[in-house]
Amino acid sequence: MDILQETDFEFYGLKKTGKVRDVYQQPHQIILVTTDRHSSFDRIVAHVPYKGQILNQISAFWFDKTQDIISNHVLAIPDANVTVAKKCTPIPIEAVVRGYITGVTGTSLWTHYSDGKRDFGNFILPEGLQKNQKLQTPVFTPSTKDDAHDVTMSPSEMIEGGVITAGLMNQIENASMALYERGVEIAKQHGLILVDTKYEFGLNENGMLTLIDEIHTPDSSRYWQLDSYEQRFAAQQEPENFDKEFLRLWFKENCDPYGDTVLPEAPEDLVLELSHRYIHVYEQLTETKFTPGSAPILERIQRNLGDYIL
Ligand SMILES: Nc1ncnc2c1ncn2[C@@H]1O[C@H](COP(=O)(O)OP(=O)(O)OP(=O)(O)O)[C@@H](O)[C@H]1O
Ligand SMILES: [Mg+2]
Repeated sequence: MDILQETDFEFYGLKKTGKVRDVYQQPHQIILVTTDRHSSFDRIVAHVPYKGQILNQISAFWFDKTQDIISNHVLAIPDANVTVAKKCTPIPIEAVVRGYITGVTGTSLWTHYSDGKRDFGNFILPEGLQKNQKLQTPVFTPSTKDDAHDVTMSPSEMIEGGVITAGLMNQIENASMALYERGVEIAKQHGLILVDTKYEFGLNENGMLTLIDEIHTPDSSRYWQLDSYEQRFAAQQEPENFDKEFLRLWFKENCDPYGDTVLPEAPEDLVLELSHRYIHVYEQLTETKFTPGSAPILERIQRNLGDYIL
């Protein structure tokens, strides 16, 4: 099985390495190669077969289905793992929208709520919510995009702190809510609940707000199975999900993922399970059978990118 760990295509432009994507900078466009890298604890913990292709193709699916809401960065998808995109100036905000109260990490809504927090600045949650319950209306919980760690702030805190102007924040919130609503509607048609998600925006060369990076992928979003949700929620069982939590737990139990310089290799069966989950979301959502792109992946990408050499 061929796995895409990293690329060295510097002849396409200066390379910037994200956690998951290798990004090549050209004067007016960027080449985003989505790799099979899997990040957790702010570091790469595994390489998951087909993950890069699936993320790129799920994003392509959603960019297409939302272009009437807001213009996005896609120019071309010359390869299963590659998007050629308009170069934008990224806005350093993660625009998070949540339709359900859930999560286990320090930034999750359920963690704050179960610690007693009700007033989130731009919305107040009622008493008596249960974990995984659907919210009356979706909520907007943006955070700053920081190299060290993201900080959740209400929109007015961001405006007062000078992170962003009120006008732009308002545009981002409106776009995010409309994108999430569309996401929920289409996911539902395919038997899925789009639980929560995170968007990134940038400004294009004309200063217009543009959706960038990725959209509604299993990395940026949480999906649950629709048909079993109600019954499981009533029985206080966790929803059927596609979470990566099991892999996080394995690392927590087998090493110190924040402290150790070198991490142990994750067991192959866990990595393959994760790969199957990505494939499952792709197939259920797009209602098409997943077909791996031809291998070797690196050679194939280079062949397909031939025309984009500077
Ligand atoms: N159209 C675009 N113009 C400019 N930069 C972009 C565009 N689309 C994506 N990017 C940037 O490219 C990088 C993609 O890398 P990757 O998705 O691996 O993200 P990351 O920022 O390292 O992690 P995360 O997405 O979890 O924050 C990000 O820094 C993103 O902001
Ligand atoms: Mg990203």
